[in-house]
Amino acid sequence: MFNPQTVPDYLLQSDAVRARFERLKTREPILEVRNLTKRFVTPQGEHTALADVSFTTHRREFVCVIGPSGCGKSTLIRILAGLETQSSGEVRVNGKAVSGPGADRGMVFQGYTLFPWLTVKKNVMFGLRMNGQGRAQAEREALQWLDLVGLEKFANAYPHQLSGGMKQRVAIARALANRPGILLMDEPFGALDAQTRAKMQAHLLDIWRNVDVTIFFITHDLDEAIYLADRILVLKANPGAVQELIEVPVPRPRSYAQFNSPEFLATRARLEGLIHPPEQPSGDDAAVQPHMIRLTDIHDSVE
Ligand SMILES: Nc1ncnc2c1ncn2[C@@H]1O[C@H](COP(=O)(O)OP(=O)(O)OP(=O)(O)O)[C@@H](O)[C@H]1O
Ligand SMILES: [Mg+2]
Repeated sequence: MFNPQTVPDYLLQSDAVRARFERLKTREPILEVRNLTKRFVTPQGEHTALADVSFTTHRREFVCVIGPSGCGKSTLIRILAGLETQSSGEVRVNGKAVSGPGADRGMVFQGYTLFPWLTVKKNVMFGLRMNGQGRAQAEREALQWLDLVGLEKFANAYPHQLSGGMKQRVAIARALANRPGILLMDEPFGALDAQTRAKMQAHLLDIWRNVDVTIFFITHDLDEAIYLADRILVLKANPGAVQELIEVPVPRPRSYAQFNSPEFLATRARLEGLIHPPEQPSGDDAAVQPHMIRLTDIHDSVE
């Protein structure tokens, strides 16, 4: 039987995979993060959310970020977006130090952040109008972006009339309308049901193929990360730091049929090993027996 644990070295370092990532690294760097550290001062004391995080992302790369809850993923993406300032270290986008939000970065959050009082079209036009574009041109462009996300028919609807998946498609159109070089996404499909989420993943890959944009995408879902990413940045917690940057060997174009492919399973096994390392009982811990309080007298056993 296929054992994914035995495959990684053979697959992850095949000539074809190596060649693909060598090519990727010849593209110019679009996002450079150097020795990024973030400390929060709280009433309980100082907390280091990110410690010495460094990595480089190349143009049109799709990077996913995974890591345990609280390891600083949202803090990292908020610093990249310019919504939060770092304690030390540097973030450069196209060689220029980030010092606040900018049109070169678009952001899509997990929560629905459309303006409820504006129609879908006006939500997408909003950033364009803020940047001084005329109404007619902004409207034309908004409709093109809505066409790209498959929602041109809903241009005059209001956000409350849309499903969660549709709202996130508008949010993507709104972010892309400003032509950012980088799209920053913090668990954008986290609130969607499994079926809608799968559709949105495929849809996002379609969009990425058709738009000159680099995507930086946070997720809790290992399969989602493998399905979408060129490389996966694995963070560890306490303090948040880079554990590994993994090259995903699954060939493109991606499809759900690949979920059981050796490359996919090998990558999954590798991520599982990083995120949930096998527990090593040691010292006093090993002697502690799990203790369960029985709240009711149930008389018989289910096992
Ligand atoms: N504004 C803040 N003030 C104080 N501490 C903060 C602040 N924002 C985040 N933190 C702390 O920094 C750490 C990282 O938080 P962050 O939200 O970045 O984690 P995360 O990896 O996105 O978690 P999740 O997977 O649950 O979304 C946490 O311990 C959190 O409590
Ligand atoms: Mg988060």
